[in-house]
Amino acid sequence: MTQSRDPLKLRSHRWFGPDDMRSFGHRSRLKAMGFDDIDYKDRPVVAILNTWSELNTCHSHFRNRADEVRRGILQSGGFPVEVPVMSLGEMLMKPTTMLYRNLLAMEVEEVLRCHPIDSAVLMGGCDKTVPAMLMGAISANVPSIFMPAGPMLTARWKDVTLGSGSDVWKYWDERLAGNLCDQDWKGIENCIGRSAGTCMTMGTASTMACVAEAMGFSLPGAANIPAVVAEHSRLAVKTGRRAVEMAWEDLKPSDFMTKESIDNGLMTSLAIGGSTNAIVHLIAIAGRLGINLSLDRFDQLSRTTPVLADIRPSGRYLMEDFFNAGSLSAMLARMTDLLNVDCLTVSGTTLADQIKGAEVIDNEVIRTRDNPVAEAGGTCLLRGNLAPNGCVIKSVAADPDLLQHRGPAVVFDNYPAMKEGIHDPDLDVDENSVLILRSAGPLGAPGFPEWGMLPIPKKLLEAGVRDMVRLSDARMSGTSYGTCVLHIAPESAVGGPLALVQNGDEIEINVPERTIHWHVSEEEITRRRAAMPPLKPVPERGYEHLYAKHVTQADLGCDFDFLAGRTPNAEPSIH
Ligand code: FES
Repeated sequence: MTQSRDPLKLRSHRWFGPDDMRSFGHRSRLKAMGFDDIDYKDRPVVAILNTWSELNTCHSHFRNRADEVRRGILQSGGFPVEVPVMSLGEMLMKPTTMLYRNLLAMEVEEVLRCHPIDSAVLMGGCDKTVPAMLMGAISANVPSIFMPAGPMLTARWKDVTLGSGSDVWKYWDERLAGNLCDQDWKGIENCIGRSAGTCMTMGTASTMACVAEAMGFSLPGAANIPAVVAEHSRLAVKTGRRAVEMAWEDLKPSDFMTKESIDNGLMTSLAIGGSTNAIVHLIAIAGRLGINLSLDRFDQLSRTTPVLADIRPSGRYLMEDFFNAGSLSAMLARMTDLLNVDCLTVSGTTLADQIKGAEVIDNEVIRTRDNPVAEAGGTCLLRGNLAPNGCVIKSVAADPDLLQHRGPAVVFDNYPAMKEGIHDPDLDVDENSVLILRSAGPLGAPGFPEWGMLPIPKKLLEAGVRDMVRLSDARMSGTSYGTCVLHIAPESAVGGPLALVQNGDEIEINVPERTIHWHVSEEEITRRRAAMPPLKPVPERGYEHLYAKHVTQADLGCDFDFLAGRTPNAEPSIH
């Protein structure tokens, strides 16, 4: 990129440069903080947007990392300013961080817009922080680079390797089935969170970090560096240095985020066997660019993209293994014929340049093209009379014997009812039943929580059952697995067909055919619709009011309807 290095062209010059009363005020207040002219004059102001919080366990290393980013900014002649933004910690935030993804996106957008910021380092990692920060930066269209938190180290318990999330579900089932004592359960609790960093399975955090890198939003090799190793500190410094250059180059998201780079993100999420949540987030990210990413595009790419990363929950290994096997760049280098490698990245070079020379070290973890985990269709779109606007299933993490299945519905009206009834010994259920949860979508829950991996009833666990067909308008954690049909749209809370299903109705899924069918006559559906109770009212106040009035359905990305599309985005008046 050409670097004019003309300080008069910096965005921050409008705040600090003019010889007028307002700029006098801006400069004098920097001086009140101990800065002198030499600290900021003619230097790009680089914001470190930090999602550190003591309530976000995955970002506990971000205080140190922010200092390392700061070091990089200073090395390259920038003026670093650390700005805290809302943290969305997946573990402790209720009912779900997804309720607040759009709030963080709005905060990032407005923080970037209203301050004298020439470029930004976006420090995120835990699940929704990634899409939220990218969405906000795209809408503000200020030069921005994403700095991922990195995954935790691999966990060990006795002689077992533990993966966060996935092994919690697995061993909880064993505990319910009577196969795990209290002491062992406590032992797993003590070991499974090994270090700072995000879940070390291919959950939503690692999926979105890979997607961000493949779309060109972070430095090459950034996505998979474990959170607490020295390379991660060096990444932070390098990211800070690069952010200064991006300010001089005025390299904005609109310069490198295109329809083609979004496709790269989608193909990457499929090839890593990534979280189903990536689909919703990518639709929302594309929406901020004014790109209408339909589920049909996802379906097309799903039919042609192989699954190459053998990572839990759909595979055998963990993120540290992926890193040691060559990392994302090496996997992308194995699929250059599928990717749009001419896309520009935050490095100022193309994706082809980013992945050039990347080598796979371990073909078991990153498979060859002629020995993939799955030829294609790792995650599939299903359509049918129960999901007119689509639903998804991560088929690569499901029991292959259940991918074509017909069985009677066992319906739970909402999450509390499911929690109360699922383990009832008198529940009329067997391994052929189709478990259904409704009122769990964007509006129903509200917030579209990760309730889609419904528990297997205890009496079936005791009988040895470990997977069943489960259907819902919820999402599921990227660390979850099983034959779970998710994101049914429209959701039950807006009157989607799921609202009308009754116990005993026959439901059929056929993943090879990409269909879902509810075997009930049109006349019966009409009769039930006429008797349906009124829809849930919109909450009267606060953020939930705004959310309920404006959130879109799963197939549209669950962004707020008023945030889609490119904004002319006038700079704020500073007079
Ligand atoms: Fe933060 Fe899994 S809980 S990434």
